[in-house]
Amino acid sequence: MTLARFQLGLSVVRNLIAGRAVFDVPNYRESELTRLLNLFAHIDASRWQGMRVLEVGAGYGRIGEVFEQLGFDVTSTDGRAEHVERMNSKGRRAHVLDLDQGEDLTGGYDLVLAFGVLYHLSRPDSFIKRCGEAAKVLVLETVVCDDLRAVLRPVTEPSGWRGKDQALHHLGCRPSPLWVEGCCRTAGFDLIRDISSSVANWKTGSYDWTPRGTGEWRRNGVNLRKMWVCEKTSPQTVLD
Ligand SMILES: C[S@@+](CC[C@H](N)C(=O)[O-])C[C@H]1O[C@@H](n2cnc3c(N)ncnc32)[C@H](O)[C@@H]1O
Repeated sequence: MTLARFQLGLSVVRNLIAGRAVFDVPNYRESELTRLLNLFAHIDASRWQGMRVLEVGAGYGRIGEVFEQLGFDVTSTDGRAEHVERMNSKGRRAHVLDLDQGEDLTGGYDLVLAFGVLYHLSRPDSFIKRCGEAAKVLVLETVVCDDLRAVLRPVTEPSGWRGKDQALHHLGCRPSPLWVEGCCRTAGFDLIRDISSSVANWKTGSYDWTPRGTGEWRRNGVNLRKMWVCEKTSPQTVLD
């Protein structure tokens, strides 16, 4: 374990003892800001004006909240009822949605915001396929593994008090970038832009890492991550 990782663990425990929820620890707040900054540095949000947004694996829904502030109609969801209750209590439209249950995502949405959730799923390909059936745009942000091939590495994740922001069913994955992009293409997104850049970096998340093909998903205590904007530019059928 690196010093940075140890310090992060210590700060999470200290914050939890102080009664703060996992999403309120400084590391999370920093990651929300850097990732949003990166996204808005790479897109022209006015192009999406009028789109209905579905935020999945939302946690406290702070990514969706920014879209709401920009005038988008946002519905936020999470697999954990406690996070949904918290969003509802803040006046947000939110409901429970477990992405590993294969539920249909269609419901009049145009854009899916999937930040920090793909790698907590046991069936991420099924989730991406359903995004393709439901929406024109998918903004996808996730931990990945540094494999140059298209691979999906299943992993088990912590449960209990350490797992409030982890895989609902304790089984997650670390996909390679090529695997994710292949799924997005199969789901019908024909314009897939990798917008990962150092702007999104925070203490324990890196987007400007150098591919080495080592298979690792964490380097020097920092998770390897990617961010994509996937769009359908022409009406087409979803490939099987
Ligand atoms: C790392 S947090 C990300 C929170 C927020 N989207 C962000 O990026 O800051 C992952 C979230 O995904 C949720 N989650 C985990 N497994 C899920 C599943 N199968 N279906 C829906 N949500 C899930 C967790 O409850 C948690 O709120």
